Parts: sequence; C-alpha cells; structure tokens
Amino acid sequence: MGKSKMGLNRCHNFQEFRRLAKQRLPSPIFHYIDGAADDELTYKRNTAAFDDVDLVPNVLAGVEDVDMSVTVMGQKLDMPLYCAPTALQRLFHHDGERAVAKAASKFGTMFGVSSLATVSVEDIAEIADTPKMFQFYFHKDRGLNDALLQRAKDAKFDVMALTVDTITGGNRERDLKTGFTSPPRLTPSSIISFATHPMWAWNFLTKPKFDMPHLSGYVSEGTNLAVSVGEYFSTMLDQSMNWKDAEKLCRDWDGQFALKGIMSVEDAKRAVDIGCTGIMVSNHGGRQLDGSRAPFDQLAEICDAVGDKIDVVCEGGIQRGTHALKALSMGAKAVSGGRLYLYALAAAGQQGVERALNNFRTEIERDMKLMGIARLDQLSRENLRSR
Ligand SMILES: Cc1cc2nc3c(=O)[nH]c(=O)nc-3n(C[C@H](O)[C@H](O)[C@H](O)COP(=O)(O)O)c2cc1C
Repeated sequence: MGKSKMGLNRCHNFQEFRRLAKQRLPSPIFHYIDGAADDELTYKRNTAAFDDVDLVPNVLAGVEDVDMSVTVMGQKLDMPLYCAPTALQRLFHHDGERAVAKAASKFGTMFGVSSLATVSVEDIAEIADTPKMFQFYFHKDRGLNDALLQRAKDAKFDVMALTVDTITGGNRERDLKTGFTSPPRLTPSSIISFATHPMWAWNFLTKPKFDMPHLSGYVSEGTNLAVSVGEYFSTMLDQSMNWKDAEKLCRDWDGQFALKGIMSVEDAKRAVDIGCTGIMVSNHGGRQLDGSRAPFDQLAEICDAVGDKIDVVCEGGIQRGTHALKALSMGAKAVSGGRLYLYALAAAGQQGVERALNNFRTEIERDMKLMGIARLDQLSRENLRSR
C-alpha cells in the first residue's frame, strides 16, 4: 500500500483531509486554499452558521430505499452536493481539474470549471459525462470574454455561472505573507517550502507545463507571468460590470445561467428579472468581503423571495452531510463547495476527491434515514429549529 493510500484511508471527514493536504502541499499553496480575507471572520461563520440551527428528526418512516437525487438548473444530480469551480487545480495536484471531473462523473454530480482552470474546457468535455458548469470571469478584454463563452458553448457545458463577487480582489493576508503567486515564484522562504515537499515539486516540474489555457493568447505577458490572484482580479477584470452586462451574457449564453455570489434579496430578485435560472448564495468562501453574512444565515430570506422562481444553491462552509440537509430544509435546491473537495484533491488526486464525495454521499444517506425521509423534497423548515 502506497504512502498516499495509507494517509487517505484515515480521512473520514473534512478536517482529516485538511490535515493531510497541509502535510502534502508547500505552505504557500496550502494557505492559498485554506485562507480567506482579512480576519477570516466570515470564513469561520460560513460553517459555524449551521450550528445555530438544529435538525428535528421523525421516526418509523420506512426508509430502506433512499433517493438523494435532485434537479438543479435543469441538471439531474445523483446527490445534492456538487464541486464549485475553483482556480489553478494543477497546483494542488498534478492531475488538477481532470481528477475532479472524473471523480464527479463517478458520483453522478456536477462540477465547475473556472475561467482560471489549468485544463481546458475541450479536454474536460472529453472525459466527463456528468453535468458541467463553466465559471465566467468578466474581463476588460471583450475578445477574451467572447472566446470564453464560445468555447464553453462548443464544449457543450450545461450551466454558465457568472461570478459577481470578485469585482476587486479580497485582502488575503496569508497570500501576502507567503508571497503566493501563480505559477509559484521562488523566494527564499518558498524555496524551503518547495524543497521540503519534494514529491509535490517533482510532480510540478516533470508533468506537462503549467498553463491557464482559457487565458493564453489574451494575456499579453502570457499566462506564465507570476501574478497573485488578487492582482488578476484587480487588473484584468472589468470593474464597470453591471446588470446590463450580466443580462447580455445571460442572453448570449441562451441556456442555464446563474449568478455566483448573490447575498441580498434585492439582487436575487434582479437575477430573476434578467432571466437567470439559478443563483449561488455565496461569499466566495469568505475570500472577498470579510464581515459579510454567511450563505446559510441569508438563505431563508432569499428562498422566501425567489425560491419558487429560480434554483437557489447554498455555497460555502459545507463540511458535513447534515449541513447539506439543513440548507435543503431551508429551501436550497442543492449545496456546493470548494474546500470540501480541494483538500482531498491535494491529499490524493482523483482517489482523494472520490473518497471525499463518497464520505458525503454516505453521510447524506445515513442522515436522511435518521431524519426519517426517503426523498429530499420531504425536507422543510418544519424539521428545523433555531437555537
Ligand atoms: C482555492 C480556491 C479557489 C477558488 N477559485 C475560484 C474561481 O476561480 N472562480 C470562482 O468563481 N470561485 C472560486 N472560488 C470560490 C468557490 O467557487 C466557492 O465559492 C467557495 O470555495 C465556497 O466556499 P468553501 O470553500 O467553504 O466551500 C475558489 C475557492 C477556493 C477555496
């Protein structure tokens, strides 16, 4: 049994994957995943919010056959949890997005591919037969925007998600301390960190060259320029982006379209007005505006306002099957997350992500039985109590 497998077999939950990822990754890369904005208060609250609401189970319900499938933004998923789009996955494991796509396919769930992905939408389309979401960043360069839209269309992606909460870069102080850039830049302290993680360094240097294929050709310096992600947000994305731009993109996409990073009722209503079919109630995993509200805290009022007109996804802070059941009880159609599969990816590639998704599937099935429900649409606020 390889060393990686031994470690992986000990991972029964989110925190254990996190610990293994911390051992495996050079510290600037671990902290890029693990960190958030300013004092990381919102980041912590994203998970803690779930503890302020308790589940009230029913019993004697005959739950030998449990169906945990959901339909969200027109996609039938075998489980109510999917992988949110995240950038730069080949920094975390040399298989990157390929590993996540294959693992999500095995579990019949959706996964997102970032504009800042390290594997192209064309390559992903060849290996995944499960619903695929493309995450769109709105750049100043309109030629790049048009190309991104067309490539995602041609690759037959099922859902388009426009990220609306990165109008400027969040203040990620851990990245400032570690000097995190993409691709990694060698500084005295990062050299030590890479040298003490020789497996990672070997894989990074010997596997096909690191690239961001959706941007290459459009970034004048080439995508091998070492930039921090905050710098990319602040210099390449278009801060004049407004509702008209979102509406036009929605129209041009002409399919399932979501805004990712909606937190207010007012914006949720406008998303309906411009023709969106979904919204991700999300604060970007606490990585943008620290001191802003947690998705689960904000879910009830958003679902009350638009839940019958648009699919609401609760995104961020999910670490347990019960978190998913609480969000669905509140009115979300599905939940999604980044770190819930990223630590597993870093820990052991595709096998790791499969194990993480399997843990969630097993937990959700067990928790449904313990809640006395056979289908997820039996959940409602009746089975929730606030402390
Ligand atoms: C390392 C990392 C990279 C991310 N990259 C992107 C990205 O490229 N585009 C995007 O819209 N969101 C990105 N996100 C945000 C995720 O899509 C999602 O909103 C967030 O991870 C949810 O919080 P959670 O990690 O607590 O589940 C990223 C998150 C992380 C942790």
